Amino acid sequence: MAFDRVFLDELAARNDIVDIVSQYVQLKKSGANYFGLCPFHNEKTPSFSVSADKQIFHCFGCGAGGGVITFVMKAEGLEFPDAVRFLADKAGMQVPEQNEAERHAAHRRERLYALCKDAARFFYDTLWLPENRGVQQYFFSRGLHRRVMNRFGLGYAPDSFHALLDAMCAKGYTRDEMMEAGLVSQSEKGRVYDRFRNRVMFPIIDVRGNVIAFGGRVMDDSKPKYLNSPETPIFHKSRNLFALNLAKKTKSEYFILAEGYMDVIALHQAGFDSAVASLGTSLTEEQARIIARHTGQIVISYDADGAGQAAAQRAIDILKKCDLQVKVLKIPGAKDPDEFIREKGADAYRAIIERSENHNAYRLEQLAGKYDLEDDEARVLFLRDAARMLTGIESSIEREVYAGRAAKMAGVTAEAMKNEVGRELAIRRKRQKAQERRQIRSPVGQAQPKDRTLAYTDVRSAKAEENVLRLLFSDQPLIAEAERELPPAWFSAPVLRKIYERVLTLDRAGQIVDVLSFEGWIEPNEMSLLSAILEQGVPAGDHRREMTEYINTIRLQRVKDGTIRQADEDPLLTFGRIKNKMREDE
Ligand code: UTP
Ligand code: MN
Repeated sequence: MAFDRVFLDELAARNDIVDIVSQYVQLKKSGANYFGLCPFHNEKTPSFSVSADKQIFHCFGCGAGGGVITFVMKAEGLEFPDAVRFLADKAGMQVPEQNEAERHAAHRRERLYALCKDAARFFYDTLWLPENRGVQQYFFSRGLHRRVMNRFGLGYAPDSFHALLDAMCAKGYTRDEMMEAGLVSQSEKGRVYDRFRNRVMFPIIDVRGNVIAFGGRVMDDSKPKYLNSPETPIFHKSRNLFALNLAKKTKSEYFILAEGYMDVIALHQAGFDSAVASLGTSLTEEQARIIARHTGQIVISYDADGAGQAAAQRAIDILKKCDLQVKVLKIPGAKDPDEFIREKGADAYRAIIERSENHNAYRLEQLAGKYDLEDDEARVLFLRDAARMLTGIESSIEREVYAGRAAKMAGVTAEAMKNEVGRELAIRRKRQKAQERRQIRSPVGQAQPKDRTLAYTDVRSAKAEENVLRLLFSDQPLIAEAERELPPAWFSAPVLRKIYERVLTLDRAGQIVDVLSFEGWIEPNEMSLLSAILEQGVPAGDHRREMTEYINTIRLQRVKDGTIRQADEDPLLTFGRIKNKMREDE
């Protein structure tokens, strides 16, 4: 969605990036820039910088970067237009009337929300028809009460290829809209039919209370057990959590993270109203950030099987990055929280939460499980592994507690363990310092972009292309000249060519070329690269001459790879001619 530039300028002027970032990160001024701990990855020494004059942020560690709108998108997990609205609200500004296309897109989304809500209503009504007693019985037999079923809006999709289709058509929705909402599928011959058939239905509701998708479960052992809505314009599963609309109202200090719909519903019924689940995938960083916005503590309560435990390990890392206090529950004698609560009751569950282990203890135990601690050699290996793990604990008191525990597990003295941890800690600190020093010294990191998907195929050329872009952003009058001298086709890196082409377009239209004119226009990873390039700044000097040198480098590379061919001329000759000319220029 495009916003008017005058509006964006005003928005950016009223939301200084230093002020906005300061609301999330403690910044310290150092030289022209501000530094702090990056909110987007876990670090101990600050490598996150904010430039007040360029109005950009950039992290030397993880590579994230962009302008103030990109920052809000990342920090709040918002799409571009919503980030703009967020900032407009903060500044007390009115978001301008949208143009025709935008109004149309907004209207379409509204229709999809309405459609999903009506579909949920249809599934709900169908469930409670007298003829569907058997389905109601399915839920009851799983221990659910009618009240909690209603709270979650559970329903039933009848065994028909067109029941929902007909009902929604009658309400005036089109087939296209139903396709877009993921409620119907299309056969190869183009026939449209209900996606969910003979399944009990779990509506997925976003944090604002809109129904955005569904999960549907079979009532027997057939496969797939659950069918879920596909990604749609209103449903992004990596950015939503099941039951967050309810959990956000909890009074509980902690959230509970479960794996399945049924686990979450059973937990809510048992009074644990802060339970949420990621949606049939492993937890994403976006979901973790969303959780961190609502609570400081989280209890992971995954399935007891190997897959569940492995997923818990991964979730710990992701949640720790967001500064959450993480505990991991082990549910003895049951396969998942739903089963545990049904068999042992809410009090038993509460008791294991209270006794539940801090993730460090949990990890130690997982580690010990890998070794035969009766065996001396294995014990030594366990101790080394444990020591390495313990170095990841920041608080020294906590570290000592768990070192003591590990010592006990392996039957050595606490003193010996402490020494081992100390040794590992020294190694780790040294390595970390060296790495951070390297990063600060070469701000763009290595020659390659941080994001591997943007990797350069011709690094020498790409570096020159980067340098040209940096000059053009700081010295806009050079753009017209670049346009004459440097065709976009000479760019070796597609992402840089894309940026260059927009620079030319903006300049031709008499518009300002800055980071703001790229926000919402390029992908976040591309924005990170652009801010990495711009972060370095351009020292005073003869910019025109520097640009000519960079263009010459690019041209040489293109001659070498055969992109540029002088008619009837041997490429080597062209090459030599350019080299000579470069020498003359110097
Ligand atoms: P589980 O198989 O643990 O399901 O999958 P569950 O919630 O315990 O379901 P019940 O108790 O058998 O009814 C956990 C979650 O993984 C996703 C669903 O979100 C499910 O809740 N899943 C599972 C799928 O998306 N598709 C599947 O086929 C299976
Ligand atoms: Mn289950």
